Amino acid sequence: MKDRRFHLGWFLQGSSVQAWGEPWTGNIGQEWMQPEFFTEMTRNLERACFDYVLIEDSSYVGESFGGTRDVYLRDAIAVPRQDPSVLATILTQKTRHIGIVPTFATFAYPPYLLARLVATLDQVSNGRIGWNAVTGSSDFAARNFGLEGLPEHDLRYDMADEYMQVVNGLWGSWEPGALLADTETGVMVDPTKVHAVNHEGRFYKSRGPLNSGPCVQGRPVIAQAGGSPRGRQFAAQHADTIVASIKGTAGMKAYRDDIRARMAAAGRDPDSCKVLFLISPIIGDTEAEAWSRKKRRDEHNAAHLHLRMAHLSKITNIDFSALPLDEPLGKLTTNGHQQSLDEFLKRAGNKTLREAMAIYNEAGSLQLIGTPEQIADRMGEAMDEVGGDGFLFSLPDTSRRSVAEVADGLVPALQKRGLMRRNYAHDHFRDNLLAF
Ligand SMILES: Cc1cc2nc3c(=O)[nH]c(=O)nc-3n(C[C@H](O)[C@H](O)[C@H](O)COP(=O)(O)O)c2cc1C
Repeated sequence: MKDRRFHLGWFLQGSSVQAWGEPWTGNIGQEWMQPEFFTEMTRNLERACFDYVLIEDSSYVGESFGGTRDVYLRDAIAVPRQDPSVLATILTQKTRHIGIVPTFATFAYPPYLLARLVATLDQVSNGRIGWNAVTGSSDFAARNFGLEGLPEHDLRYDMADEYMQVVNGLWGSWEPGALLADTETGVMVDPTKVHAVNHEGRFYKSRGPLNSGPCVQGRPVIAQAGGSPRGRQFAAQHADTIVASIKGTAGMKAYRDDIRARMAAAGRDPDSCKVLFLISPIIGDTEAEAWSRKKRRDEHNAAHLHLRMAHLSKITNIDFSALPLDEPLGKLTTNGHQQSLDEFLKRAGNKTLREAMAIYNEAGSLQLIGTPEQIADRMGEAMDEVGGDGFLFSLPDTSRRSVAEVADGLVPALQKRGLMRRNYAHDHFRDNLLAF
């Protein structure tokens, strides 16, 4: 019988206040600095046999909307937010099987620092670390690091290609078997198996070898979210898992087929990378309850239009507050998240900005509204149509309640249908990711 199982990830909105202003979030405004909520939710997702938790990041306070930081600070849009490496470390110590994927931007971490940090994380987690490799998208962030601004979009990916060459070289600077820890001979490390890298390229220089010792997994799981043609090329070259927000099964299939073709052209086995599609299901005990929650969400979004507009401004660097709400959108371009803007404009068509925002608010690749059983059926059908490889949950109302609805409501319904694993077969993250 065909193995219909697919993979699940969770997109955590940073090491940060989650879902500010949403119901059922308890005292998140006071508690976000401490890791309890994040460790509890990650353990719940591990109980549900998720592949990974991806910790989003950006390293600046937004100010693209209306040219001010006010809305970002007042409404806790991606701020305050901690360095993700600390939460990632804590999560590795509170779990045993699930993959932990912090985001680090290539412009913000010199390659040696990144390679050493991620290798250390892979060691302390015993082979469960991933790295969400992003190039960054904001000049405000670049200025926090002494740069004038970010390089142009495609050049950032050229730089990131070389960056990958350096970090892969550093992770490879310890051959398998270099660590001896031989108490008989007294030799800890075999010096013949540790090598310099001596990288001197167009953008980066690093000597190596890495002094942390090797990654447990050889190299960490690489996650990526490139959506533009150049971004897809980069992802197809390097990623073990790709996360994407593409509307509808036809688009999802086309995206995945394109990634797989690019991988084959690059000499990689297409099955060695898992593409996960963003979803934000609305779950109810009954279908009617789910739809009434959807109605409440739509009303909330319409009354708080500025929140999602500010988010879109942040990732595209376009000031949407300066555009007329009730007129069609003109031509817009960005040096930020190009694919996110293209998808927004494509779906907007001739609609006004206000109407376009209503669709933008329906985040995710599929509309999933109903009981756990109905949603599980739909997810299974969608995967049959697309070909694979799974879903990344991104909830606007992440809370203990919404995590439980997924982990204890939806996942058992998926397991019942043979769509989701019931236990982890391997010790290491990549082995579980590529197990089916
Ligand atoms: C699910 C998802 C998660 C992402 N997480 C981050 C992130 O944490 N930090 C970041 O700077 N960019 C993040 N991005 C943006 C991507 O890195 C990328 O810039 C975006 O998808 C647009 O693709 P493009 O750069 O090829 O135009 C994310 C994108 C998606 C779809």
